[in-house]
Amino acid sequence: MERIGVVGGGLMGSGIAEVCARAGSDVVVVEADDERAENARGRLEKSLRRAQERGKIEDADAALARVRVVTDLTLLADRQLVVEAIVEEESAKVELFQQLDQIVEDSEAILASNTSSIPIMKLATVTSRPAKVLGVHFFNPVPVLKLVELVPSLMTAEETTEAARAYVDGVLGKQAITCQDRAGFVVNSLLIPFVLSAIRMYESGFATAEDIDTGLVLGAAHPQGPLALADLIGLDTTMAVAESLYEEFKEPLYAPPPLLARMVDAGLLGRKAGRGFYRYEK
Ligand SMILES: NC(=O)c1ccc[n+]([C@@H]2O[C@H](COP(=O)([O-])OP(=O)(O)OC[C@H]3O[C@@H](n4cnc5c(N)ncnc54)[C@H](O)[C@@H]3O)[C@@H](O)[C@H]2O)c1
Repeated sequence: MERIGVVGGGLMGSGIAEVCARAGSDVVVVEADDERAENARGRLEKSLRRAQERGKIEDADAALARVRVVTDLTLLADRQLVVEAIVEEESAKVELFQQLDQIVEDSEAILASNTSSIPIMKLATVTSRPAKVLGVHFFNPVPVLKLVELVPSLMTAEETTEAARAYVDGVLGKQAITCQDRAGFVVNSLLIPFVLSAIRMYESGFATAEDIDTGLVLGAAHPQGPLALADLIGLDTTMAVAESLYEEFKEPLYAPPPLLARMVDAGLLGRKAGRGFYRYEK
C-alpha cells in the first residue's frame, strides 16, 4: 500500500497523516472546509519541523511534499487505504463510509476507522464491501505512541486485517495488536475501569488524590497515577468512554461515578481546563 487517504485532519488525523508521510507513503488528507484544511496543514507542518529539529526525521520538507490537504472527498478515488478520523458521531461516520464506498475505486482498497467507541460493524454494513472494513485505532500523540489496535468486525476478511497489519507494523514501524469489535477494545476496557476505581476510592474519602497516585507510582511502577492520568486524558473523554463501555456491557465497573459526572458538569475537565483532580497553571 502506497497511496493512503485520511479523512479528518484534527488531532488524530493530522498525526496519522504525519506518520504515513514520514514512512514514505503518498497521503491525501480530506478536511471539512478550507479553514480547517489550513489548520490541519499547519499542525502537520509544525509537528514535522519539530521532529526534524529533534533529529527524529531528516527532511520535514520531503515528508510534507508527500501530503496534500484537500476538501474534496473524490480525490480519494485512487487510494489503497483510507483511514477515517472525523468526529466521534455515528451518523457522520455512517454517511462518510457510504460516500467512501462510492468514491474509492479499487475494490481491494481498505476502508478503516480510527473510532474509539463506534462498532465497526455499523460502518461495515453500510458499504458494499464489509470484508474490506476494519478498525485501525491509533493512540494520541500518534507520532509518539507505538500501539495500534486492529479491530476486525465479524464481516472483515482475514486478508484485510493482515494487509493492515503489514502496513502498520512493516511500513509505519508501529506495533499492532488485534481484538474483537467490542467497545473499548483492549486498552480502554482495562484502563477505564482502573481509572474509575481510583475516582471511586477518592470519592469515598478512603485516601487523598495524591496518596492514591503515589501508591500506584511507587508501589506498582506506573509512570503516573490514575487520577493524574484522568486529568491528562480529560474528564469529559474519560466519561464518554466509560458511558460507551457501560452501554455495551452494562457492568457496574464501567459506570461513571457521580463525582466524575459532577466534575464534568462543572467544567473541571483536567489539565486542559486548568483543574481536575489537581490544579494546573494555564
Ligand atoms: N483524541 C484522542 O485521543 C483519540 C484517540 C484515539 C482515537 N480517537 C478517535 O479519532 C477520531 C478523531 O478524533 P480527534 O481527537 O482527532 O478529533 P478532532 O475533533 O481533533 O478532529 C476531527 C476532525 O474531523 C474533521 N471533520 C469532521 N467531519 C468531517 C467530514 N465529514 N469530512 C472531513 N473532515 C471532517 C473536523 O473538521 C476535525 O478537524 C474520533 O473518532 C476519536 O474517537 C481519538
